[in-house]
Amino acid sequence: MSVKEVLRMGNPILAQIAEPVEEFNTPWLETLLEDMFDTMAARDGAGLAAPQIGVSRRVVIFGVQANPRYPEVEEVPTTVLINPVITVLDDSLEEDWEGCLSLPGLRGRVPRFRRIRYAGLDQNGNPIERTAEGFHARVVQHEVDHLDGILYPQRMRDLRSFGYEQELFPEADISPLE
Ligand code: NI
Repeated sequence: MSVKEVLRMGNPILAQIAEPVEEFNTPWLETLLEDMFDTMAARDGAGLAAPQIGVSRRVVIFGVQANPRYPEVEEVPTTVLINPVITVLDDSLEEDWEGCLSLPGLRGRVPRFRRIRYAGLDQNGNPIERTAEGFHARVVQHEVDHLDGILYPQRMRDLRSFGYEQELFPEADISPLE
């Protein structure tokens, strides 16, 4: 078990374009994925991108289990997605709250495409291709943005909704968003 430090906005690694993974079934990739899952679990995240733990490679993980504490949060399958490619299937935008482990304590309303197809490779190099909508599509767009050096405030249309979650939602039991 190896929980890594999560880099915060302002760290130059988060602003880089990450490099593709070319070799699979290597100890390096196995360790990276273990560290990513350990770190995401420790921080209660819905997703994590490799650059967030300082590794500038095109690897993201995500997954949200049904949680009785957050009945409004949609389940997202636990997924390793490497060298991802997103195709927009419905270019209408939906705005909703996001958070990010690289901006601890902050939330903002971010427009995302409603429906996408995503493709990439799993941890063994086998192809993955899925369509996703709603929260699932949102999480994938957020994580893949990390690989292109983009953090969610750069996607926001109105920074008036950007703020500290304890101020924005003083009474709320905040759901995990990353
Ligand atoms: Ni993030």
